[in-house]
Amino acid sequence: MSQRSRVLSGMRPTGAMHLGHYHGALKNWVRLQHEYDCFFFVADWHALTTHYEEREVMERYVYEMVIDWIAAGLDPEKCTIFIQSRLPEHAELFTLLAMGTPLGWLERVPTYKDQIDKLKDRDLATYGFLGYPLLQAADILIYKATYVPVGEDQASHVELTREVARRFNNLYGRARDSEAQIAAALAKLGKDDARYFERQRKAYGETGSAEALAKGEAILRKAAATEGWSSDDAELLLGHLRGSGKTILVEPQALHTEVARLPGLDGTKMSKSYGNAILMREEPAEVARKVRGMTTDPARVRRTDPGNPEKCPVWQFHQVYSDAATRDWVVQGCTSAGIGCLDCKQPVIDAIVREQQPWRERAEAYLANPKQVHWIVEMGTERARTVARQTMRDVRGAMGLNYA
Ligand code: TRP
Ligand code: SF4
Repeated sequence: MSQRSRVLSGMRPTGAMHLGHYHGALKNWVRLQHEYDCFFFVADWHALTTHYEEREVMERYVYEMVIDWIAAGLDPEKCTIFIQSRLPEHAELFTLLAMGTPLGWLERVPTYKDQIDKLKDRDLATYGFLGYPLLQAADILIYKATYVPVGEDQASHVELTREVARRFNNLYGRARDSEAQIAAALAKLGKDDARYFERQRKAYGETGSAEALAKGEAILRKAAATEGWSSDDAELLLGHLRGSGKTILVEPQALHTEVARLPGLDGTKMSKSYGNAILMREEPAEVARKVRGMTTDPARVRRTDPGNPEKCPVWQFHQVYSDAATRDWVVQGCTSAGIGCLDCKQPVIDAIVREQQPWRERAEAYLANPKQVHWIVEMGTERARTVARQTMRDVRGAMGLNYA
């Protein structure tokens, strides 16, 4: 298991999961657990960054969500499931990374301003909210994750994580005795080139600019012709340039998988708070009622009006749930007014109810025996702790904090 690359992802505890969560993320997680050493966690501290006053629902939301993860097919034998707040190591790494992280890096994260604009009813002018992408960086870096499956909206957080790791390795990754060797190699470059090289290295370390990296490398290529220059010098300065002296924290990569976009009942993003969601374990009668009530192409006022599937959220459900023959039937029937919208919705209802069956069956045992869920999370937390503790030993050592 430890031979495989590590994947890490988290979700805020929002209670029972809906079909949007399943098709947008969970289904992918279930697939990944067979290929990678997967760590999936409940980001309960992250929930507090925007909903810091909602303590009454937290515990219920955490466990409802974990039950649905397992119902969806996450296998506690195959992946590690845990809860962020049970691991204070995340907070320690967050604190240590915070010391050297420029404020501008956090203010520039696109979700920061977006969310403040969007969640107008909340006071998000908090320290925790500004810092939350750095907390996310700590979540990722503490497990030395190679891949982070996230939606497009979180890509900038993974990018920030990479910058934070690069800067950390840059600041603390070098062995102390190599500093003199680096100075000696730089001296061989000559004053102007050395100064130029250092400028590119700084720029690359701080912004990850590919251009700066290329300029730095060009200087090293040019230096090959210099008297007294050796391949050791080149290698040393290349490590210096890339900040890869010694990798303590691993730069992760975002894993963007093609996921089906399943909208809510009204065609906007599916979300419990918009009241347009179908829960993973929604009762079949409720599924039928909700789908029958779905918004359709607004131009189809009467049964005899032809419609356009492209303007209808039900069509997006068909794209997730129906085979080619059914989809042909929809397009043909809709555009010719050959079928009614209720006819069109029935195969979707049937497919959802069918999809839900194994979820319901798997969840049953856990709902009847909540202790088992607690135990699964407990096991996962201890597995995660082993990794997190080791990283923190390395980090403390690198930062000169290993006195005790
Ligand atoms: N910020 C993510 C969200 O709001 C959740 C999250 C927290 C996360 N830490 C993470 C996702 C680490 C991936 C990796 O959805
Ligand atoms: Fe939408 Fe189907 Fe009605 Fe066409 S027939 S408008 S695709 S629900």
